[in-house]
Amino acid sequence: MSDAECHARIRAARGRLGSKAVLLCHHYQRADVYQYADLTGDSLKLARLAAATDAEYIVFCGVHFMAEVADILSGPGQTAILPDLAAGCSMADMANLARVERCWRELGEVLNAEERVTPVTYINSAADLKAFCGRHGGITCTSSNARAITEWAFGQREKILFFPDQHLGRWTGHGMGIPFDEMPVWDADLECGGLAPEQIRKARLLLWKGHCSVHQMFQPAHIEKFRAEHPEGLVISHPECCFEVCARSDHVGSTERIVQVIKEAPPNTRWLVGTELNLVNRLAQDVKGEGKIVQFMSPIVCMCSTMQRIDPPHLAWTLENLADGCVVNRIAVPEHEAEPARLTLERMLAVS
Ligand code: 13P
Ligand code: SF4
Repeated sequence: MSDAECHARIRAARGRLGSKAVLLCHHYQRADVYQYADLTGDSLKLARLAAATDAEYIVFCGVHFMAEVADILSGPGQTAILPDLAAGCSMADMANLARVERCWRELGEVLNAEERVTPVTYINSAADLKAFCGRHGGITCTSSNARAITEWAFGQREKILFFPDQHLGRWTGHGMGIPFDEMPVWDADLECGGLAPEQIRKARLLLWKGHCSVHQMFQPAHIEKFRAEHPEGLVISHPECCFEVCARSDHVGSTERIVQVIKEAPPNTRWLVGTELNLVNRLAQDVKGEGKIVQFMSPIVCMCSTMQRIDPPHLAWTLENLADGCVVNRIAVPEHEAEPARLTLERMLAVS
C-alpha cells in the first residue's frame, strides 16, 4: 500500500465512523498520525478528555498505560483502543506488581508501611500498580500535577514511596525542600532496595530506580554549550530529565506546559527543549513564523520508539475494522484492577 493510499483509507474510514469515534493523540505522536487527532494533550489532559468524551470508540494514539487510563475513566458503553499493542512505555515496565509488593513487604520489616507510607505511582505505570496504590491509600500523579499530588500524599502519611520515575520524584521533592539524603533510591534488584534500615527510617521520599530512556539522553553539557553559544536563549525541560538538567533549565514542565510556554513566549526568542523529538519538531514549525527558534536538546536523535509504533498503516487497519463494526486491539482493564485504579485516578483529578 502506498502512503497516499494508506492516508486515503484512513480518511475514508474516519469519515464512516463520524462521531462514534474520537482520536486522542499524545504530543509525541509522529506527524503523519498527529494530523488526524481530534484532541491532543499531555497525560493529565488526555485523562480528563477520556473521562469527558461520550464517543463509543476512544482510539488512543499514545502508549499502553494511556489507553488503560482511558478505559478506566470512560463509561461502560465505551471502548478504548490502542492501534498497535506493542506501543508500551519502557519506563512503565521498570516497575511491576511483584516487585512493588516485595518492596512494600520489605519496608514493612523496618516500619509500619500501611500507617507511615503513601504509595504514589506516576501515571506511566500499568493499571495493576495504580490498583496497588488504590488498595494502600495511595494516588496517581502526572508530570503536571506531581507537586500537588505529593503534597496530598504527605498530608496522608509522613513518607512516600514514589514509582517508577526517580527523576520526577526527585525534582518534585527538591522543589518541596526535601534534602537528597531523605530521598534515597530504592533499587528493586537488591535486597531491601539496597538500603540500610536507618536510611529507610530517615527517608521521606523513597525513589524507585526507574527512568525514561528518551529523557536520560539529555545532559547538562548540552545546556552549557547552548548557553555559551546563545546567552540570551532559554531552556525548557520535561521533569523526566535528570536533576542536573532540570536544575539548569529556565522552565520545567509537562509536554502540554512546554508547548504552552513556547507558544506564549515573546517573538524572536530562542529555545532549547529537553523532550521528545516529534514534539520539538512540530513546535519549531508552529512558532517559526513569529521568529522563534526551537532547538532539540540532544545532538543524538532520541525519539520515543514505542510512541512511533502508532503509524498510518496501524491507524488505517484500526479505523477500517471499527467502521466495519469489528473492535480490534481493545484495551480492557479487568474490573478487580480497574476499581482500585479508578480510585487513584479520581483522587488525582480531584486534587489537581
Ligand atoms: P506528559 O504527561 O508530560 O505528556 O508526559 C508523558 C510522557 O510519557 C513523557 O515522556
Ligand atoms: Fe515512556 Fe519515555 Fe516514551 Fe514517555 S518518552 S512514553 S516515559 S518511554
